[in-house]
Amino acid sequence: MDQRFQIFLLVFSIQIFSIASQDDAVLQALRSQWKNTPPNWVGSDPCRGNWDGIECSGSRVIAITLSSIKLTGQLPSDIVNLSELQILDLSSNPGLTGSLPLSIGNLKKLSNLILAGCSFTGSIPDSIGSLVQLRFLSLNTNRFSGRIPPSIGNLLNLYWLDLAENQLTGTIPVSSRSSPGLDNLVNTKHFHFGKNQLSGDIPSQLFNPNLTVLHVLFESNKLSGSIPSTLGSVRSLEVVRLDSNSLTGSVPSNLDNLSGVKELYLSNNGLTGPFPNLTGMTSLNYVDLSNNSFTASAIPSWFSTLPSLTTLNMEDTGLEGQIPTSLFSAQLQTVNLKGNHLNGTLDLGSSFSDQLQVVDLQKNSIDGFINEPRYTNDLILVDNPICQESGVRESQKYCSISKQSDPLYSTGPNSCARTPCSSDQISSPNCKCAYPYSGTLFFRATSFSNIINPTIYTSLEPLLLLAFQSNQLPVDSISLSNPTRNLDNYLVLNLDIFPTGTDRFNHTGISGVGFVLSNQTFKPPDTYGPYIFIGHSYNYFAGSHKSSSTGIVVGVVVGGCVLVLLLVIAGLYAYRQKRRAERADKQNNPFASWDPNQSSGGIPQLKGARNFSFEELRKYTSNFSEVNNIGSGGYGMVYRGTLPSGLLVAIKRAQQGSTQGGLEFKTEIELLSRVHHKNVVSLVGFCFEQGEQMLIYEYIPNGTLKDSLSGKTGIRLDWMRRLRIALGAARGVQYLHDLANPPIIHRDIKSNNILLDERLNAKVADFGLSKPMGDADKGHVTTQVKGTMGYLDPEYYMTQQLTEKSDVYSFGVVLLELLTARNPIEKGMYIVREFKMTMDTTKRLYNLQGIIDPVISGNELIGFERFVDLALSCVKEAGINRPSMSDVVKEIENVMELAGLNPNAESAQTSENYEGISKGFDHPYTNDSMFSYSGTHFPSKLEPK
Ligand SMILES: *[C@@H]1O[C@H](CO)[C@@H](O)[C@H](O)[C@H]1NC(C)=O
Ligand SMILES: *[C@@H]1O[C@H](CO)[C@@H](O)[C@H](O)[C@H]1NC(C)=O
Ligand SMILES: *[C@@H]1O[C@H](CO)[C@@H](O)[C@H](O)[C@H]1NC(C)=O
Ligand SMILES: *[C@@H]1O[C@H](CO)[C@@H](O)[C@H](O)[C@H]1NC(C)=O
Ligand SMILES: *[C@@H]1O[C@H](CO)[C@@H](O)[C@H](O)[C@H]1NC(C)=O
Repeated sequence: MDQRFQIFLLVFSIQIFSIASQDDAVLQALRSQWKNTPPNWVGSDPCRGNWDGIECSGSRVIAITLSSIKLTGQLPSDIVNLSELQILDLSSNPGLTGSLPLSIGNLKKLSNLILAGCSFTGSIPDSIGSLVQLRFLSLNTNRFSGRIPPSIGNLLNLYWLDLAENQLTGTIPVSSRSSPGLDNLVNTKHFHFGKNQLSGDIPSQLFNPNLTVLHVLFESNKLSGSIPSTLGSVRSLEVVRLDSNSLTGSVPSNLDNLSGVKELYLSNNGLTGPFPNLTGMTSLNYVDLSNNSFTASAIPSWFSTLPSLTTLNMEDTGLEGQIPTSLFSAQLQTVNLKGNHLNGTLDLGSSFSDQLQVVDLQKNSIDGFINEPRYTNDLILVDNPICQESGVRESQKYCSISKQSDPLYSTGPNSCARTPCSSDQISSPNCKCAYPYSGTLFFRATSFSNIINPTIYTSLEPLLLLAFQSNQLPVDSISLSNPTRNLDNYLVLNLDIFPTGTDRFNHTGISGVGFVLSNQTFKPPDTYGPYIFIGHSYNYFAGSHKSSSTGIVVGVVVGGCVLVLLLVIAGLYAYRQKRRAERADKQNNPFASWDPNQSSGGIPQLKGARNFSFEELRKYTSNFSEVNNIGSGGYGMVYRGTLPSGLLVAIKRAQQGSTQGGLEFKTEIELLSRVHHKNVVSLVGFCFEQGEQMLIYEYIPNGTLKDSLSGKTGIRLDWMRRLRIALGAARGVQYLHDLANPPIIHRDIKSNNILLDERLNAKVADFGLSKPMGDADKGHVTTQVKGTMGYLDPEYYMTQQLTEKSDVYSFGVVLLELLTARNPIEKGMYIVREFKMTMDTTKRLYNLQGIIDPVISGNELIGFERFVDLALSCVKEAGINRPSMSDVVKEIENVMELAGLNPNAESAQTSENYEGISKGFDHPYTNDSMFSYSGTHFPSKLEPK
């Protein structure tokens, strides 16, 4: 062969090789940097190998879509070599950390950059302004810090700009002669910057008539100065949220020109001047001007002339005089005029809105009320002269506060019967058991405030389903549940997405479904306003085994020493990447902050519980703020927190002086983290840092069984529900005794330690007193007696020998509580004794009509006698005569079958889902509950053996 031709061939083949392998090497780097990559990421060629989550055009990677698969690691800078990449969606992988590569601007073809719900840090690189194709930029819900790069102003194709929920500081950049700014973004419809630490004035230059923006969300920052009047020139606006900043000055009068604005939030600022005149905002649905310092004024007429107003929040705004009757005649759902100087007689008139749910007039000067008998929803006149009159104060409902609880919505079955499912599976709306992909939808500004109305959810369901199915995704059905309004006034909804054809999604399915939500392909009707979705990690891939990351397997054998050399380089490269990954791994070691000097016995052996840093928890609880404080006890405080994934948690924070030694704390979390059962509250993680000891639990929304029995939560427990709760709790305790390893004796079973979730499933809580049993313990442990009076096993009390039968005794007392809804010790009477004395087995209902809870006395009490027999066998004097927990479970199952209930079915039929609304509701974690150690409940500490 001609020598020149040979050289040509050689050069040619090198070129082919290097082009084809360019993207391969980058993806190998990703694979070795990240944990939990899809299992089919094997081999050397991601494109021909059809790697999950990777889309190619020819040999070039054009899309990476990998949301919600628990990816862990950093974004390697090699990724910027994917020069054909158009879509990068790594959303909802909170294990992704580190900063973005400075040269990210090299990804010149990128149109969608979606990193929402990860844990990226550092500043947003300036080079992001070079991504001129970018349409969709979603960096929200991370930990980015530093300034918003002005270069973003170069992204003239940008449609969606979401930087919310980070730690961004500095001012909002606008253009100057030397640099671009966000005022250039005339095609961007969404400016979402909420929940950062942006400061300085809102530049008046930011807003101009050329903008076409729909949603301006700047809430919860540190913006100061006055609202620029230029805002009134942006006629496209539909949602404006400037609430919870430090804005001052008067509201510019030309805001009134914004006839398209539906949601306007200016609350929690220091605005002054005349009360705004919003007569021209004719589309206004939701307006919140609360907590500002406007000049005192009468209720303006626009309150009653705006045709589509649903929500008026005007708390503490200096309003005075009489409330006009005409106010209530529009579409109103909520009128909150708390803390003003309104006076005279309240008259709702006869033509008030039939949607009216809440009229809150606390802390005013109202001295009369023309009672409108048709209005039966919430009215609050507490702290008005009318409620100071004796007689009125005691007798009128409107003189007491009944806090609204969240509605108990969850999607019902599509005319089929829900089937019992094995452990983690859930019955879909089409009654098939499957592992859904779940996550949280956050609607950041809805046009309605009444979230009790079920049509809000039922009308969303078919649209969501359609969005998936019309994108050819394998979705069978979807289910919405657990609506709440969070502290930011976002509507928060749980979304479960069920697979079709099989019981679980594969990686392709999760990638596609995740993208429909992360890229906003699904568009809800306007009334829902802007939303984001944060997915939970999907844990149910078939046979999910770890992908190997040992070097590169090269499937193609090519001759020539040049190629061998290239392979060696590639191998070295992969090795380096692996080393890098290992280094990153070490940095992410969850126990890195474990203090070995404290002789705490090394790294704790944990299953599924995460180590949180103090900083993280501080962020999730808004700096342990008062509003998030949901309970306290001798141990310390309990806070509610929201993880970036949207998961609500209860954080038990030991106060100084109550902390345990490192070893004890470690023993406790090791024990707690081993406990995984659907009827047991699970530990999500812990924090052991900066002298702090905190335990993080899943948050159980419906409070304690005791609160429901006493009527506090407004949830009515009929006989059937009580049987289900008894069964769930019994299964939880049985699990601790028989299946936990090592077995656990709870030592403090009581109705205050049984929590009810959104579907009223019972969950056993608080192992603060728990006692693991070692092999050597042979059935009993001798300990100092601990527990709660009324539930305490008398045998244990006398002998100090703790056995599982002590829990059975306490559980028997709980069964008696389920029958009577009374405290075990009340007015000097002991429930066990009273039962034994009153009972006559020859009579109907054993002659117990006088002491059973009136709430169930109207029910047909099928199985009642067997239930009583079981309860009394549990509270026998001698432990040896009591049944075991597994016997108890079996007998409750028998009773349920008698009563025609399927002991394995899910609880909470949707037909019953709307009770318990707007009745008094105390939070589960207040006073004597899960984490409280007051009263008869002795101080808690796990005793090290
Ligand atoms: C709006 O756009 C027009 C035409 O492109 C331009 O001349 C004008 O300067 C722009 N106005 C502002 C305030 O940017
Ligand atoms: C409010 O503005 C409207 C025009 O938008 C005007 O007709 C009305 O008089 C104003 N009301 C007050 C009290 O200034
Ligand atoms: C109500 O308040 C207004 C304004 O403060 C005052 O002028 C009026 O006299 C008060 N009316 C009654 C009945 O107290
Ligand atoms: C993933 O699931 C979809 C639909 O359920 C199916 O069509 C596809 O073949 C699956 N992919 C793999 C790699 O199994
Ligand atoms: C992402 O969503 C937008 C609409 O928000 C849509 O136009 C676009 O086609 C989507 N991108 C892809 C790749 O599906």
